[in-house]
Amino acid sequence: MTGMLEGRSVLVTGAAGGIGRAAAVLFAAEGAKVLAADLNEDGLKETAEMAGGKVSIITANVASEDEAANLVKETISRHGTIDGAFNNAGIEGDWARTDESTLENFNRVVGVNQTGVYLCMRAEIRAMLEAGTKGAIVNTASIAGLAGAMYMPAYIASKHGVVGLTKAASMEYGRKGIRINAVCPGPIKTNMLDTLTGKHPRALEAMSDSTSMKRVGEAKEIAEAACWLLSDRASFVTGIAMPVDGGMIAGP
Ligand SMILES: NC(=O)c1ccc[n+]([C@@H]2O[C@H](COP(=O)([O-])OP(=O)(O)OC[C@H]3O[C@@H](n4cnc5c(N)ncnc54)[C@H](O)[C@@H]3O)[C@@H](O)[C@H]2O)c1
Repeated sequence: MTGMLEGRSVLVTGAAGGIGRAAAVLFAAEGAKVLAADLNEDGLKETAEMAGGKVSIITANVASEDEAANLVKETISRHGTIDGAFNNAGIEGDWARTDESTLENFNRVVGVNQTGVYLCMRAEIRAMLEAGTKGAIVNTASIAGLAGAMYMPAYIASKHGVVGLTKAASMEYGRKGIRINAVCPGPIKTNMLDTLTGKHPRALEAMSDSTSMKRVGEAKEIAEAACWLLSDRASFVTGIAMPVDGGMIAGP
């Protein structure tokens, strides 16, 4: 039996840890040729090691127009094509009420989470159109892209932006055979969650409690959803923002 992503060339951003690392490792195990990108080179090396050397790595800042475009060029130069992408890099930013928040934090968070996804996705679509590739793209949004939450205005805005970018692009390129979807993780045990809950000790318990399953998720559980969305098994799925959240968004 072949893997779900057998022979596919896939770019994964934010792959030095957490969800991106789990995705790079899983996609490689499912047969993909993976280029793993991140700002953190040491973390990328660990990811490549965990994937048994089946993942190649590159340092890049997704918020830079040139570096985002170069990621796609590198994917093609290493693998001959780009068939899929998981635009996942993100930051949480500062925790502050809107009236106390800063423009610097807003621009930084939107710059990575939203502009970064836009820049990577645009470069990926351009390359797929040029090559006539029927590809698939998955963007990491969040349940924070589907509902509001207090004290993270920039993060919430950026993730709603990712959902909007995903839906708009899916409508533009469906007829070309390029499927574009978003995953919307609930609370997932990664460095990001540790940083957030470390500052607010009761937050982890509150987050677990607010899911129907009464636990936080594992990075691999998001990677599995992204893998399915990238694969041909999701061949009629485009334009969705799929919650993978233990039921958190289902109701209060
Ligand atoms: N952990 C959660 O609970 C949760 C919930 C919803 C959504 N998400 C989203 O999932 C994605 C992955 O987050 P995670 O939880 O794995 O956190 P993480 O901090 O473990 O991973 C994020 C990765 O993105 C990289 N990164 C940050 N800025 C970058 C940039 N400008 N260019 C390239 N790489 C950059 C970081 O170095 C890091 O390796 C993010 O988009 C995050 O917003 C996470």
